[in-house]
Amino acid sequence: PKSYKITLIPGDGIGPEVISVAKETLQLVASQEGIQLQFHEVLLGGAALDSTGVPLPDETLSAARQSDAVLLGAIGGYKWDKNEKHLKPETGLLELRAGLGVFANLRPATVLPQLADSSTLKKEIAEAVDIMVVRELTGGIYFGKPRGFGTNDNGEEIGFNTEVYSSSEVDRIARVAFEIARKRRGKLCSVDKANVLEASMFWRKRVTKIASDYPDVELSHMYADNAAMQLIRDPKQFDTIVTNNVFGDILSDEASMLTGSIGMLPSASIGESGPGLFEPIHGSAPDIAGQDKANPLATVLSAAMLLRYGLGQEQAAQRIETAVLETLNKGFRTGDLFSTGKNNMSRRKRY
Ligand code: NAD
Ligand code: IPM
Ligand code: MN
Repeated sequence: PKSYKITLIPGDGIGPEVISVAKETLQLVASQEGIQLQFHEVLLGGAALDSTGVPLPDETLSAARQSDAVLLGAIGGYKWDKNEKHLKPETGLLELRAGLGVFANLRPATVLPQLADSSTLKKEIAEAVDIMVVRELTGGIYFGKPRGFGTNDNGEEIGFNTEVYSSSEVDRIARVAFEIARKRRGKLCSVDKANVLEASMFWRKRVTKIASDYPDVELSHMYADNAAMQLIRDPKQFDTIVTNNVFGDILSDEASMLTGSIGMLPSASIGESGPGLFEPIHGSAPDIAGQDKANPLATVLSAAMLLRYGLGQEQAAQRIETAVLETLNKGFRTGDLFSTGKNNMSRRKRY
């Protein structure tokens, strides 16, 4: 049988809770599909800081690099929030993404028919929404230099970051997005602030140039502020969205609420080569950690993306997605999903 090495990174807060569900799911599907999965668990974020003093131990990055795919829960928490930049859990995650070179972050916001009532938007607006957000993940303002703290000419203290994109960085994420749009409904919306920011003007120019290789894909451009509004006004106008690191972060959290909860949104981060990184888009949810309230489906669906995009095991991926639908059909809901059904476990009621 085919055998794969999976690096598991539970992380902090609800991370270990959601990873344990996803691991069990993967083990079951692997046995059904006759695949062998070898799991190797490593530390990242706060858990790594507490036991090794750094947020990304060398052993974690090398284990991740040597595996076929990486499944991550979440990192971060109050305990480390005041740490210096290089000793923050979040810095460890950014170093892991950069270290694996996973520049393309796919965040699908799919409104499942079982959850059309769980959206905070009217059912007729939310139902059948199916958007793929392609977020650039290893560039932009998250990584641009110069950055830091200092003083300005008036001697006043400042903090600063730089939004910067090179042509190769924009071209490669644009190509990924065009390829995805081509296999979906053939529509790509590039989101930027080209009315204000040079980095966005450049982004738009490069995306437009790459478009000539994809005449079958209909490209449009939208400013990020308008996109935030349009996602709520009429989300069905979107098929595939491509955007920079920080706009993608914000717009994917926004899009997640169309699906009912941030606890539903998985992601896949892919590079030119090497293992992909698969993680829910949500964080460590310290407000509910340790209370058995976390919705594990974003991580379970990330495990499905791992099988699909990371291992090429499409049938196994579909098995997980079907199991999620069946679980919802049976009426199971975590408290983050508003529900008026028989199990009436609305957020207000359970929390
Ligand atoms: P968050 O996503 O952790 O939580 C936001 C809200 O959504 C909270 O009310 C939380 O309870 C709820 N929520 C999130 N996931 C849920 C789930 N699976 N089921 C039910 N409810 C869920 O964002 P935050 O509160 O802004 O950040 C908390 C910490 O997580 C911070 O340290 C932040 O840096 C970190 N973070 C990490 C990642 C990651 O590891 N990829 C992503 C985002 C935030
Ligand atoms: C995410 C998170 C991270 C990000 C943080 C924790 C570094 O918000 O995965 O969306 O901003 O990318
Ligand atoms: Mn985020």
